[in-house]
Order: sequence, then structure tokens, then C-alpha cells
Amino acid sequence: MPSPSYLDEAVELRAGIIVPVLESDGLEVLAFTLDVEPDIVRATGVCLNDGERRRAAGLRLERDRRRFVVARGQLRRVLASRLGIAPSAVEFEYGPLGKPQLSHRMHARDLRFSVSRSGDVGVIALSTTQEVGVDIEAVVPVPEADEIAALCFSASEYGSYTALGPEDRLAGFFRRWTRLEAVSKTLGCGLGQPVSWDEKDWLVRRFVPLSGYIGSVVIRNWRSRDVTMH
Ligand SMILES: CC(C)(COP(=O)(O)OP(=O)(O)OC[C@H]1O[C@@H](n2cnc3c(N)ncnc32)[C@H](O)[C@@H]1OP(=O)(O)O)[C@@H](O)C(=O)NCCC(=O)NCCS
Repeated sequence: MPSPSYLDEAVELRAGIIVPVLESDGLEVLAFTLDVEPDIVRATGVCLNDGERRRAAGLRLERDRRRFVVARGQLRRVLASRLGIAPSAVEFEYGPLGKPQLSHRMHARDLRFSVSRSGDVGVIALSTTQEVGVDIEAVVPVPEADEIAALCFSASEYGSYTALGPEDRLAGFFRRWTRLEAVSKTLGCGLGQPVSWDEKDWLVRRFVPLSGYIGSVVIRNWRSRDVTMH
């Protein structure tokens, strides 16, 4: 049987270009940079709707406005290319806690996506089979990592985390954190809403969107029945 084809190596991202960083098990992850020249920001953001423009305008820092506009513009471009429509014609609707999905009016509900941004990098995960969640984080020192792990990780995740040697702790923390966030995003949870999940119920793929970052993308195993939010 062929092994899953995914790249566990960092790729080089160039301004305005969308790069595949993982393709496996019906999942795709595409990466792009967010800190791009103003003309690329304008070109990417031209397809945003009024609500998205208002959201961008409400962000205090120019850097945050730029990153939101580029990520949303790239999302519209990617979805539009899959649906064979113009990026401005993509319509979203939002779950109770803000999870975006394609509007039921798009007649393309088998196309699921998830978005994550960290620092200068954005990623879009796509699945044509079921809900997907993705999360990336820049790997930077987190002085309170052990406390966060004790609070948020499951007993088995916490056990395997504390068993890591000091040199593996930081990457180990972010691998578990991005996996947890990806599961939460699949379920559409909100900030601080603890998720009870069992590793056997999820297909988890790790990737490196850019050197210095860690990412996880998840879908449920089709046998999964018993994942709950508390
Ligand atoms: C809201 C949340 C999903 C955002 O995640 P983040 O790491 O801050 O930011 P990311 O860039 O990875 O993701 C943001 C994207 O997620 C999507 N998103 C927003 N709310 C979402 C939700 N409830 N569910 C799924 N996806 C959501 C949007 O596409 C958003 O992109 P946008 O800001 O460009 O519109 C996240 O903070 C959260 O609440 N997670 C819940 C898990 C949790 O609380 N864990 C701690 C347990 S102790």
C-alpha cells in the first residue's frame, strides 16, 4: 500500500504564492505568507465583502489588518478555484462560536475548510469528505507551557509530554497544542471550551508550513462516534 504522501519538510514560501505543504488521506493543506507588499495585499483583498472589510477596518494594527485581508483573500481564491466561481462570489456562514463554512446557498457543502494564521504564515486545510480542523503555531519559548499543558492536555497527552526530555519539550508542547486546537476547530468550539477527545477517533497529520512553525490538521476517523464537547 502506498504510504501517505505528505511533506514533513519546511518549504519556501514566496509573497502572494500559495504552496501545498501536505496532501494525504483526502486532506490538503496550502500555505502562504501574510506579510506581503501593499500591492499584493490590495490585489488579494479586492474580493472581500463589506462585512470582511468592516472587520479589517476594526483591527487597530496595520499588520493585523494586512494579515486578515491576505488570509481571507487567499481563502476566497482557493475556494473559488475549487468551485469554478469568482472569489467575490464565495459566500460564508458562521457557526454559533464563529466557525466559518461555505453558505448552504453555495451547493458545495461537501467542500470543508479550516484556516489558521500564526505570525507571517497562513494555512488553509481542505477536505472533501468531512469537517476538518487545522492549527499552526510559531515555535517560540512559552515559559508557562507546563501549566498550560497541565490545564489543557488530556491525561495521556500530559503524561507523554512530561516524559519528554528538555530538548524535545518545546516542539512536543506545540505538537500537542496544535493538535488540540485543530480538533477544537473541527468541532467549532470557542476559546476556553475544553474538548474531550480520544486519539483513536481522529486522523492527525503533522506538517511544517515554514521552518520554525509546527502545524496539525485533523479529521475524524470514520468509525468515530463518541467525541464530546463539555
Ligand atoms: C477561536 C479559535 C478557533 C481561533 O484560533 P487561533 O489559534 O486563535 O487562531 P487561528 O489563526 O488558528 O484560527 C483563526 C481562524 O479560525 C476560524 N475560526 C474562528 N472561530 C472558529 C471556531 N469557533 N471554530 C473553528 N474555526 C474557527 C476562522 O477561519 C479564523 O480565521 P479568521 O480570523 O481569518 O476569520 C481558538 O482560539 C479557539 O477558541 N480554540 C478553542 C480551543 C481552546 O480553547 N483551547 C484551549 C483549551 S484549554
